[in-house]
Amino acid sequence: MQWAFITLLSSAIAVLASPTHTANRTLTFTIEATRHGKPIPPSQIKLEPFEFGRSHIGHHGPVPAPPSSPEAVDPTPRMAKRANPTATSNNWCGSVNTLSKTNPVKTIHGEFQHPTCSLRGGSTTFPQAAANWVGIDGDSWTSALLQAGTVCKIDNSTGIVKNEVWWQWVPSAAYTITSMPVSPDDWFEITIATSSATSAEITITNLAQAHTYTITINSGPTLARVNADWVVERPYFGTTLAGFPTFTDVWFDNAWADLISGARVNVDGAKQYQIPGLCASQEWDGAWVTINVTGSATLS
Ligand SMILES: *[C@@H]1O[C@H](CO)[C@@H](O)[C@H](O)[C@H]1NC(C)=O
Ligand SMILES: *[C@@H]1O[C@H](CO)[C@@H](O)[C@H](O)[C@H]1NC(C)=O
Ligand SMILES: *[C@@H]1O[C@H](CO)[C@@H](O)[C@H](O)[C@H]1NC(C)=O
Repeated sequence: MQWAFITLLSSAIAVLASPTHTANRTLTFTIEATRHGKPIPPSQIKLEPFEFGRSHIGHHGPVPAPPSSPEAVDPTPRMAKRANPTATSNNWCGSVNTLSKTNPVKTIHGEFQHPTCSLRGGSTTFPQAAANWVGIDGDSWTSALLQAGTVCKIDNSTGIVKNEVWWQWVPSAAYTITSMPVSPDDWFEITIATSSATSAEITITNLAQAHTYTITINSGPTLARVNADWVVERPYFGTTLAGFPTFTDVWFDNAWADLISGARVNVDGAKQYQIPGLCASQEWDGAWVTINVTGSATLS
């Protein structure tokens, strides 16, 4: 299925953060932020509706066979590469752990380094974008997805890269946090803690620049909380897929999800979505997922 492209405001006028926001009739949220541990005044917290629908999944239509697994040669102390089940997608590259409805995800966590993105040579599809996020649902549960992360976007052949932080509760509100800094190589930590199927707190920290944003949402679209996701996505732009840029490897570290029972799961055994010819996802030692570019692009 394909989510409808949602335009919250027709123009990209910054929405000044005030204590309570009403994204539409059904979704309100509050947002607070700190910089080096000190509160950021609400007047300096800036959000903009974003134009990507990042929420597509289930695109298991005609795609070529996945490329054979690249040889694992990683110098860092990831202990072992695991042979997780794989599946193909045309827009999700990463790991999805599916849990039972009777013991669903309460909190999900992940850390990653925002990649360095560059124009994919030979591609004339613009914009090109890659979104890195941690989220709940959107795979086997297709009617809602709560997610937060970063995105790099290249509008045209100039190769100028924009890096942004964003969050979205599909099919409802979708925002870029324009006041939050993001540079290539910055480490981010994302935690999404649900308190029910329709309420959650998202915490996004740029660890490198010591900015933390906390978004508290009540009455969101109903989650089943059965999918724990760590994903690099080739987003949709309107109803068509954006181009997919080249980017440095994205490692999701400390990828864990705590279940309602208190048990903790990670990416061990999780399904690894691959975008054939464009992106490969591998799992290492239970808590690390790596996602990198394959196919016609080369890593630099
Ligand atoms: C993907 O990243 C892993 C870990 O860094 C590396 O072993 C592998 O060779 C990379 N694959 C490609 C195609 O670059
Ligand atoms: C290309 O994209 C950049 C960055 O968004 C923008 O500043 C520039 O105006 C665009 N150029 C053209 C020709 O569209
Ligand atoms: C408002 O939220 C509802 C429920 O989450 C959603 O179905 C609808 O598409 C949203 N509308 C807009 C304009 O975002």
